Amino acid sequence: MRAQTSALKSKDLLGIEQLSPEEITLILDTAEGFKEVSERPVKKVPALRGQLVINLFMEASTRTRVSFEIAEKRLSADTLNFTASGSSVEKGETLIDTAENLMAMAPDMIVIRHKYPGAPKMLADRLPASIINAGDGAHEHPTQALLDAFTIRERLGRLHGVNVSIIGDIAHSRVVRSNIHLLTRMKASVTVAGPPTLIPVEIEKLGVRVVNSLDEAIDGADVIMMLRIQLERQGKLSLPSLREYYNTFGLTPQRLRRAKEGVIVMHPGPMNRGVEIASDVADGPWSVILNQVTNGVAVRMAGVLHSSLS
Ligand code: CP
Repeated sequence: MRAQTSALKSKDLLGIEQLSPEEITLILDTAEGFKEVSERPVKKVPALRGQLVINLFMEASTRTRVSFEIAEKRLSADTLNFTASGSSVEKGETLIDTAENLMAMAPDMIVIRHKYPGAPKMLADRLPASIINAGDGAHEHPTQALLDAFTIRERLGRLHGVNVSIIGDIAHSRVVRSNIHLLTRMKASVTVAGPPTLIPVEIEKLGVRVVNSLDEAIDGADVIMMLRIQLERQGKLSLPSLREYYNTFGLTPQRLRRAKEGVIVMHPGPMNRGVEIASDVADGPWSVILNQVTNGVAVRMAGVLHSSLS
């Protein structure tokens, strides 16, 4: 589907739940155009010249933080990275006081990652700057779902009718929540699998199929998306052991023998090799995991650009 809209409704990109199929398609189509910028000798366009973007990361990140910064620089924005460590957050300053003080220095956009669901919305309601959610607790990670969709579309040519199986810690994952909203909205079929303690009750109400085993999830899948166990969001491990988890839900080349020809394996990262995925799979011919990372830059360029225009 080609985009039938030229702008996002909101100044803020808080979640996939708020985006229409046309807005999702607009971001993916724009990202397709931006992919070529990263292959040029001079990897820059002037779109955001003179604009200031603050990356406010209050939780650890490698891929999201780095690719937002690269995306902003490729759009010619001025960027400033703020982390809790070394800031007055360590002296007890609240998120809203921190954000209002940063706002007093006139940023045009704030990209925020925070452990509390709803933190980006709280900023969006109070600040005139555009707010982009770079992951809020177990709620949403919209740009991850957009780059996942971009990668599926790039590899398989479409989202409509694609069978996507998502396996792992469904209960604590913001990636799965954003992916379910996006994929069901774009008419892909979504199956989830994992240990019963890590499958939220009534998740079927989001329009997904739940299966009990890895083999059932692999059968018929065009895309297999593996998730890590989010130990940081569990009071204690909701599993007997990580070894048992690997034996039951770890994706190995042997388990992949039953997969459809042409299946692609995805993972948002960071991976725990030997827990949810074998190294031979992560580095094997099925894997598009590093392509996801590459695509993250173009997709975040598109997200930042459209938020700045809205
Ligand atoms: N996928 C993802 O959000 O990775 P980081 O936590 O490294 O940003």
